[in-house]
Amino acid sequence: MRRRHVLTLAAVGAVAAGCSDEDKAKPPPGSGSPATGQRPSLAAGGPAFPEGFAWGASTSAYQVEGAAAEDGRGPSVWDTFSHQAGRTRGGDTGDVAADHYHRVYEDLDLMKDLGLNSYRFSISWSRVLPEGRGALNAKGLDFYHRLVDGLLERKITPVATLFHWDTPQALQDKGGWERRDCAQWFADYAQQMFYSLGDKVSTWLTLNEPKSVVSLGYVAGVHAPGKKDRRLGDIVGHHLLLGHGLAVRAFRQTGRKGGIGAALNLSPVYAADDSAAARKQADALDLEENRRWLDPVLLGRYPDAWLDHQAAEVRAAIRDGDLATIGERTDLLAVQYYNPAYVSANGGRVVRHPTTQASWLEVYPDGLYDLLTRIKRDYGDIPLTITENGMPTVNDVRDDDRIAFLRDHFAAAHRAIQAGVKLQGFHVWSLLDNFEWAEGYSQRWGLIRVDRDTRDRRRKASAEWYRGVIARNGLDT
Ligand code: FCB
Repeated sequence: MRRRHVLTLAAVGAVAAGCSDEDKAKPPPGSGSPATGQRPSLAAGGPAFPEGFAWGASTSAYQVEGAAAEDGRGPSVWDTFSHQAGRTRGGDTGDVAADHYHRVYEDLDLMKDLGLNSYRFSISWSRVLPEGRGALNAKGLDFYHRLVDGLLERKITPVATLFHWDTPQALQDKGGWERRDCAQWFADYAQQMFYSLGDKVSTWLTLNEPKSVVSLGYVAGVHAPGKKDRRLGDIVGHHLLLGHGLAVRAFRQTGRKGGIGAALNLSPVYAADDSAAARKQADALDLEENRRWLDPVLLGRYPDAWLDHQAAEVRAAIRDGDLATIGERTDLLAVQYYNPAYVSANGGRVVRHPTTQASWLEVYPDGLYDLLTRIKRDYGDIPLTITENGMPTVNDVRDDDRIAFLRDHFAAAHRAIQAGVKLQGFHVWSLLDNFEWAEGYSQRWGLIRVDRDTRDRRRKASAEWYRGVIARNGLDT
């Protein structure tokens, strides 16, 4: 229990393992009406996806790059955290990670070989700005030019995330996201990236999973910076969203073409039984898991019911005009889906479906359908792309369990498209086995195996299977 359970634990109480069979209080996955606008072509065999659908894979800088102290890179909070005793499994760090920094061309060829037409990566803020602000580190920036040029040469669309949890340590020393200033520091860095790479990168993601930063980094304290202070975490959450809005504004000001949005991890929440008390708990949890992030970004407001429960310090951090900034129009929403959340009448979490090596990852593909159709219903037709979904497995390269997992989630995504959801892409987490934060290298999430000692790459069965899906733009039967 190191990852996702923590938010719900903090929000609604203890995890209640096990559940009774009669509680099947989930909305039925309907097939809905045919897609509006997007027309899935029907190939022989399994379901086909719309033409031009983005098939991708995801990584993040600290998890794959390595080269932590090379070419002028400054440390981030994750360098600091992973080097502290007892923070990560086995004391693992991202010093070398998957050594992607040095093997970038090999990795680009692997992507090409898979047939990917989209690749979602993140920029290490402290590689391009070792102090977090000021003059750019040309050598660090060059790496991203090499990566992006290599993608474009291979006809793979770059999708760049600006913040995947690796706040520069120099800024953390000044208070990091706990300080309101950090939102502006982030927007300034973002603007430098739009100017530097914006003629080549046309899809930008501001924040990766602000919810995880709050719940894991500031409530449970199991991620960097390792604090346990919910109020502070909620203030950080607001500053992160403010940084998102300021970065979107900066993007518009640069006049760069393309689109920008946030990457949010969302979980459909279900009452574990039909009681009014369980439904009330589910509404409360939905506020924390979903609405507290979606409403400000897409509607420009926090839900009243969420605000009502915030401490005075948190409310004071929300200033006039902030919500207009946070709600600045975005062009897409990047959805990251791993698990549903079932909650009982007493507020305990109920685990209803099988889990994986990552105990928090409860496998429920229909949850993806429910999530995507709910976003359409409640927030309208903003284009969506899935930027993370996947599972770890202890099976080495014969990862048939991952194939089954992905097939079921692709099928759920396809049903959502048929129901009219404007889903434009699916990026599997992850391209490579990598540094899984507090779990170190103990969990392997990659389509491509990375040897722990030599860092040699080897395609897993799931990579071969995914290549087939991409080639036919659809599932097998
Ligand atoms: C997501 C993170 C990603 C990876 C996957 C398994 O929450 O964004 O970096 O850790 O989970």
